[in-house]
Amino acid sequence: MENLAETFLKLDRKEITLLKAIERGMRHCEWVPAEDLMTKARLSPKAVSGGLSKLVDKKLVFKTKEPYEGYQIGFAAYDLVALSDLVDRDVVVSLGALLGVGKESVVYEALGRIHVAESTEMGATGTAEEVTEATEEKLPLAVKFHRQGRTSFKHVRRVRDHLTDMPRCAWIHAARLGAAKEFRTLKHLFPEVSVPRPVALSHHTVVMEHTGGKELYKLDLENPEECLEIIFEEVAATWKKETVHADLSPYNVLIREDGEIAIIDWPQAVSRTHPQALELLERDLKNVVNHFQRKYRLDFDLEEALAFVLGEEKTGEKERVTGERERGSS
Ligand SMILES: Nc1ncnc2c1ncn2[C@@H]1O[C@H](COP(=O)(O)OP(=O)(O)OP(=O)(O)O)[C@@H](O)[C@H]1O
Ligand SMILES: [Mg+2]
Repeated sequence: MENLAETFLKLDRKEITLLKAIERGMRHCEWVPAEDLMTKARLSPKAVSGGLSKLVDKKLVFKTKEPYEGYQIGFAAYDLVALSDLVDRDVVVSLGALLGVGKESVVYEALGRIHVAESTEMGATGTAEEVTEATEEKLPLAVKFHRQGRTSFKHVRRVRDHLTDMPRCAWIHAARLGAAKEFRTLKHLFPEVSVPRPVALSHHTVVMEHTGGKELYKLDLENPEECLEIIFEEVAATWKKETVHADLSPYNVLIREDGEIAIIDWPQAVSRTHPQALELLERDLKNVVNHFQRKYRLDFDLEEALAFVLGEEKTGEKERVTGERERGSS
């Protein structure tokens, strides 16, 4: 099967323009009318129909004839739309191998540049324009294409607090929200918490630093106690930033050979004001403690881990949550 980079390189500008026009149209309707594409893509009718039939042949675009001639894209084409934007912005310079396919994402390694805001200047129109400086050398990146809407949407809605206000939400919308939430969380936590440095957001795609390392569940650690302590410290630092990961597990902790760790996969993070924040925090710690118990026979008391993470606030927080639970059950 062709990989994403190969498919991207075979697309011409007109095809990318059409994919972008269909994506914009899908914010309003499921099937974008062919006529709309003529105006939206600003291409000649011949170029539109030629481009569309090529995209349909490549299975990047789907066509319906009823009740009108309409077109839609799937995740493969949406990935290409985001990639094209990231290439145009000089964030991604080259796309490499597949790093991982998770339940709700596809992650590729890449090389690219970090654009750092230097200053804000007044532009010709009198509005503030950000002046950015790109890193000279190319850096290893991880490009995460979100896939939230692909699985049962009901399930996504149940577990993702940021979707609760949206009873009927298309997959594009769900994936965009997942990416935006992950990017915002990474920006909030970096650098106080060991998370990958956030680099850019485009559509449903988060670009971050490639941290290197392997997932905790794959490793046979020589010093498991030390590693467990480092993880607790990171969870405590996250709590200090008013955040709970809410999907922490040996799959979402990367460990490098030098012992540095990175906690990844943040779209489902919750604020510590979330009604279930403390339960989610306990579950996160339990997932980690259980792994160390099973694999290394390390006995670590969950209450002790929780006390460490909550620090001095433990008593107050516990009382608040217990009080809320009691009020809820009465
Ligand atoms: N910043 C990164 N640096 C290096 N590798 C990464 C990075 N982000 C993700 N990966 C790789 O991609 C895989 C999937 O990433 P992530 O856990 O964020 O996605 P996911 O789809 O939510 O996974 P799952 O839901 O199965 O836990 C990771 O297990 C890891 O191997
Ligand atoms: Mg994961």
